Amino acid sequence: MTAEAGKRPVTLVTGGRRGIGLAIAEAFAAAGHDVALTDIVRDDAADAAIARIEALGARAHFVAFDLADLSAHETALAEIEAALGPVDILVNNAGIGAVVRGDLLELLPENFDTVLAVNLRGTLFFTQAAVKRMLARRGLHPRAILTVSSVSAALASPERTDYCVSKAGLAMFVQNLALRLADTDIGVFELRPGIIRTDMTVKVSEKYDRLIADGLVPAGRWGEGADIGRAAVALASGAFGFATGTVVNLDGGLAIPRL
Ligand code: NAI
Repeated sequence: MTAEAGKRPVTLVTGGRRGIGLAIAEAFAAAGHDVALTDIVRDDAADAAIARIEALGARAHFVAFDLADLSAHETALAEIEAALGPVDILVNNAGIGAVVRGDLLELLPENFDTVLAVNLRGTLFFTQAAVKRMLARRGLHPRAILTVSSVSAALASPERTDYCVSKAGLAMFVQNLALRLADTDIGVFELRPGIIRTDMTVKVSEKYDRLIADGLVPAGRWGEGADIGRAAVALASGAFGFATGTVVNLDGGLAIPRL
């Protein structure tokens, strides 16, 4: 395996067994990358995801661990590097929604901690570990760190304040990371999806169907994982290297302030 290292770019997608992460992984595989997927569990969905990546002609490697468990990060990164070679593109995608959608005044500290531990703390320290490995060698391909935040980084929803705070924190982390890496060849970008049809939104799909029909999203439709995947591949291509730190709204115009 390692003899092949470096021939094709290697992209690592956290939370890649389904949803937006899988769509991003498929877009990179279709663009000629080998792909490492990480997720909290290896189940049928994970196996199906691996098969879909391999069907696109890419090598795939899956590692199961909890992103909130910082002690698992180094082992996972070492395993991926041994299997596919050094990571060129890190896509921070894994995330969870609010544990309970409800009144901000009833938000429980333990639920706040759960969301922050995955979305912000886990992502930040996993990125730190991955970046140290990236800086330890020269890149043979364009290199980038892409972080999937959310329109909720900027648009408030008091019934899921924990989620919004985690994504706003992530947005600030991306800005700081972009500055830290600005004089390297590693571009740092924030992808800010709007309302995307995935397992995360399935429970609230009727609500969003109604809101979209009523004009909430200027584009007039749900976003799909492929909308995010296409943009991720373009951002990681190297063409946007001088645009490091840029926030890319992938929301059909949802975040544009309107009268
Ligand atoms: P999803 O729930 O379908 O996928 C998230 C993936 O992350 C799952 O495979 C899940 O198992 C994994 N994951 C969750 N906690 C983990 C942990 N502790 N360790 C490792 N893996 C973990 O959700 P979706 O919609 O694909 O979301 C992907 C990202 O996009 C998330 O960060 C989410 O916040 C963000 N997003 C989603 C939007 C949407 O409308 N679906 C809108 C804006 C942002």
